[in-house]
Amino acid sequence: MKIKQILTQRVIAAMTAAGIPEGTNPAVALSNRPQFGEYQANGVLGAAKALKTNPRELANKVVAELDLTDIAEKVEIAGPGFINIFLSKDWLNQQMMAAKADERLTIATADQAQTCVVDYSSPNLAKEMHVGHLRSTIIGDAIARTLEFQGHKVVRQNHMGDWGTQFGMLIAHLEDNMQGGNIDGTALADLEVFYREAKKRFDEEDNFADRARDYVVKLQGGDERCTELWQKFIEVSVSHSEDIYNKLNVTLTRDDIKPESAYNDRLAPVIENLQKQGLAVEDQGAQVVFLEEMANKDGEPMPVIVQKSGGGFLYATTDLAALEYRSQTLDADRSLYFIDARQSLHMQQVFTIAKKSGLASEKVSLEHHPFGTMMGEDGKPFKTRAGGTVKLVDLLDESVTRAAELLSQRETDLTAEQQAEVARKVGIGAVKFADLSKHRTSDYIFSWKTMLSFEGATAPYLQYAYTRVQSIFNKAGIDASSLSDEIVISQEQERTLAIKLAQFEDTLELVAKEALPHQLCAYLYEVASGFMSFYEACPILKDDVTSEEKNTRLILAKNTAATLKLGLDLLGIEVMDKM
Ligand code: ARG
Repeated sequence: MKIKQILTQRVIAAMTAAGIPEGTNPAVALSNRPQFGEYQANGVLGAAKALKTNPRELANKVVAELDLTDIAEKVEIAGPGFINIFLSKDWLNQQMMAAKADERLTIATADQAQTCVVDYSSPNLAKEMHVGHLRSTIIGDAIARTLEFQGHKVVRQNHMGDWGTQFGMLIAHLEDNMQGGNIDGTALADLEVFYREAKKRFDEEDNFADRARDYVVKLQGGDERCTELWQKFIEVSVSHSEDIYNKLNVTLTRDDIKPESAYNDRLAPVIENLQKQGLAVEDQGAQVVFLEEMANKDGEPMPVIVQKSGGGFLYATTDLAALEYRSQTLDADRSLYFIDARQSLHMQQVFTIAKKSGLASEKVSLEHHPFGTMMGEDGKPFKTRAGGTVKLVDLLDESVTRAAELLSQRETDLTAEQQAEVARKVGIGAVKFADLSKHRTSDYIFSWKTMLSFEGATAPYLQYAYTRVQSIFNKAGIDASSLSDEIVISQEQERTLAIKLAQFEDTLELVAKEALPHQLCAYLYEVASGFMSFYEACPILKDDVTSEEKNTRLILAKNTAATLKLGLDLLGIEVMDKM
């Protein structure tokens, strides 16, 4: 149920009926204090100012027109003209009953399904994935899952970097590591090491560097031997990434990979197109687009090189071709990019050229959703002690090991195998939640201690809250799916929890619109802590609890667990029945 959206519509209707011009923002928001109801509509104040009339009188008129009989039990005017809305008990009871019987927790699918192309993860295949790839991979995945859940058509695009000059040196080095047509078993086990070896030879061995350059040219020309070596290398590198996706519980598959090389045939036509329109012009041998839209202080247009003087294409050219494909072939309504904030200028240039040239359709919304950097506890970008890049696989494995250690200190009746499974879900969940719960655009400090804590907004805390509910049903010997519809919400903590639970759909709308998973994290944390306070104040299984109270509370517990499970699933985090 989209409460906020419904209230907004109703308030707008009442404002219009009261003579307020259309387009005025009703400013419906959650109240910050219970005495002001659950929601407030504050838009009358601004409207009164614009109309130069008394705000309280105007608020009276709006309230007289406002029909909320099915949702609210009371509507009050406060202060200079705020409208306070108190949700009705019956309505809340109904909401909780409906959610109990519905796997989607009454969350509707979008009236107008959109085609959303989501570019995320997109690592360079020359090296192994490192911590710098974490954010794009998990933020993009959370948004892809959320949009899909809302009923949109999601096309994942893993724009892997599999092309460029580095591959010349890599395949030359690979050639020297082949035995009888097969790759030496251990050569590519560690791509970091392999890359370093190749780079060293490139810098130090004359013949090798020449051979590497020669191979780049051959590869670009479609030479069979070079292509074969390149494919062997790519295959190994892709399977390294797949291991990471599996570990991370990320939904990307092989079918989602549309690497840079897939656009090779489209690069020349893109340039031709830009030239024909007079957008790309020759400048010192290169093809350049001058953007007045992005002029500097002195009004000089910004130059963007789309083809180098030697004829070579660039990162931007490939992105233009990819954008054309997403817009024209995939027919995207939204094209979302989860890429580091340091590429903001690049994205802005690409978007501007694409819109201007018609490579992008008019309807497509081009969205770069940037993110900040993961920092070490010293406040500098996260590195190994020796100052090297941290492989993502090592970070994830360490988290699982740490989670296992922590869990082993707790009482448990789980088998060793079950414990290992719990440690895996907690360890991976902790890394993901710690990241996803920060505002996407800010840098954040990576801290094992905070992310693995059972207190505060962490994955372990939410996973634990989920297991609490499971154990209540276990103890009661009741099957959550067989609860009756008897429900009477009366205690304050019951009401607070129920209202929180009813806000799930509004939260998802917000998350999907702005591509901000931290809103979902914050919401789930409020649900979990709301449940903990509720359970402290409202016993469920004690003897003096009436059967009506018991059923009401079990419904709330069930809905809490279902919300946590679904919400965490949209973040790509798993739950367990016991921990
Ligand atoms: N491979 C690039 C990198 O590692 C990211 C690609 C992002 N996607 C895109 N369409 N440019 O920096």
